[in-house]
Order: sequence, then C-alpha cells, then structure tokens
Amino acid sequence: MTPPVPKTEQLTPSAEGISRAASLLAAGRLVAFATETVYGLGADARNGAAVAAIYDAKGRPAFNPLIVHVATAEAARDLVRWDDRAEALARAFWPGPLTMVLPLAPDHGIATLVTAGLPTLAVRVPGAPVARTLLAEFGGPVAAPSANPSGRISPTRAAHVLAGLKGRIDAVVDGGPCAVGVESTIVGLAGKRPALLRPGGVAGTAIEAVLATPLTRPGTRPQPDAPGQLASHYAPSAPVRLNATHARPGETLLGFGLVQGDLTLSATGDLIEAASNLFDHLHRLDACGRPIAVAPIPDTGLGAAINDRLRRAATPRDA
Ligand code: TXA
Ligand code: MG
Repeated sequence: MTPPVPKTEQLTPSAEGISRAASLLAAGRLVAFATETVYGLGADARNGAAVAAIYDAKGRPAFNPLIVHVATAEAARDLVRWDDRAEALARAFWPGPLTMVLPLAPDHGIATLVTAGLPTLAVRVPGAPVARTLLAEFGGPVAAPSANPSGRISPTRAAHVLAGLKGRIDAVVDGGPCAVGVESTIVGLAGKRPALLRPGGVAGTAIEAVLATPLTRPGTRPQPDAPGQLASHYAPSAPVRLNATHARPGETLLGFGLVQGDLTLSATGDLIEAASNLFDHLHRLDACGRPIAVAPIPDTGLGAAINDRLRRAATPRDA
C-alpha cells in the first residue's frame, strides 16, 4: 500500500498553487486537478511507481489503461504516431473534451502501466485553464483517470474529490465546477476505420463532420477495442502458470518477495513497485519465448489488480 498521506493539500489556481502542484507531480506525487470534463487524478505518466499509486488511491480492482494529458498538440505528437485524421481533430477540438487513441511513438517514455501494456495511447489536451496552466508548468505528460474511488461517480467539484479521496492523495487544485461535467469523447484512430470508443463531451456527429467519414460505434466492432472491456489488454504469447514457487524445466520465473525470479516484480514485496514493473517484466519474459511461471502475489491492496491481470494473462486466448 501507499504510505499514508498525512493530509491532502487544497490548492488554489494561483501562480503559487499551480507551482506547488507541478512540483508535487515532479516528485512523483498524486495531484487531482480540474479539467473541463471532470476532475482528474494526475501523476507523472513517465513514473511507473507514481502511476501505480493512482490505482492504489482509487482502489481500482483492475488496471484499465489511462488517458495522458498534455498542454499542447505538439506535445502529443511526441508521444503517438500522428496522422492527418489526428491533425484535423486536434485543430477542431483541442484544447477540449476529446481523447484520441493512437499507436505509441518510438521513445515515448510513457510507463507501461499507463497503457496496461497496449501498443496504443489515449491522449488529450484539456481545455480548462487550471489543467492547461498546470500541464504547461509541469512540462510533461500527466496520466489522469477521473478523481473518484473505483466504482463511484466522477467528481465535478473539488469537494467531490475530497469526499472520496481525502487523505489518499497529496493535493487537489480547485478550479471550481467543471463546465462540461461528463468525460471526454474517446475516438480510436489506431485502426483503419475511426471508432467512437466512448461517447462524451464532443458529439460523435461533430467528429464525423470533421473526418468526413462515419465512426464505427461500440458493439459494432470487436470487443478488445472498447474501453473498459479490454480483457485482452495484453496477453503474453507464452503460456503463464500462476502461484509458482519454482520454475519447472524450460520455464522462466517472474518473482515476487522471497521468490526470486529471472525478473522479480519486487524483491521487498512492495505491491506498488510490483505494479509498476508488471507489464514491463511480462513483455521482457515473453520475448524469451518460454513458458512463464509467476510467484504468488498477495491479494491485498494493489495485489488484487495485479492478480486480476495475471489471471487474464494465464487464461488461454482461445478459451
Ligand atoms: O474526461 C476525461 O476523459 C477524464 C478527465 C480526467 O480527462 N478522464 C477519464 O479517465 O475519464 P478514465 O480513466 O476514467 O477513463 C479512461 C478511459 C477508459 O475507459 C479506458 O479504457 C480508455 O479511456 N482508454 C485509455 N487508454 C486506452 C487505449 N489505449 N485504448 C482504448 N481505450 C483506452
Ligand atoms: Mg472514470
């Protein structure tokens, strides 16, 4: 578990408040901030342990991939493979409540936990002044899901954030009530046909008008691309055997705690460190082309999300 945060700082969107929030993000801490859609719970998207702490604070039972927030479209272009459709949508709707899913660029620097091991990234430039100033001052990509405990409704005021997460996060920057109040629209641009992955603040018809093409809708395409239903986020091609204390002949071992493996999620049994290493280590062991044995992980705190992901990885893909 995350070391308890003694108090949650309540920051105003003054120069001083923004600068404090930016330095907390730079230090790997969790900062909730207003966007025009809902309040986001932000962490440095390049820092795997900080991203793991988001899941811990929200009590998320599974690792859904997160949206990365940046200050400008130029910053987004460094992270993903940009194309003409992305350019047209960015010009029309950014800054604003639109998220685009695009293939990751080489050398993107984003922690694997952000994408839950997917080769694509959801990215957006939010429109609210607080979010824009904070992102500009921080100067890097910020991963941010909605700032509510898992299973609760999304917060549209700083008071909602505090009601759910006070004492579990480092700060909240109060930008007043969110103007849009529903989450951003998510458009998938990683495939040939653009897809509406989640309806939200920008109407699907407005996106279709800019792209001059219809969007495929959830339910009309294969499930793995639908947000929240990414059972197959990332499944290694090698067979995975759980609760292993030793590697059998031919296996590689993913260790945890006292079980030392070829790679070890956390030698000290720290679940935050383990979560931040999970996808990275699975990718690396998978590249060896041998079956993967995985040490037992306790089911407490972030362990539940780690075990959820490992169980999916261990399920044969044709099952
Ligand atoms: O308005 C918003 O989008 C808010 C504010 C804070 O920006 N954020 C938000 O994040 O709603 P969250 O984590 O509650 O929802 C993110 C959604 C999830 O449904 C997730 O599956 C989807 O984005 N998502 C993230 N990365 C994805 C990817 N690479 N491919 C497909 N879906 C993705
Ligand atoms: Mg949410």
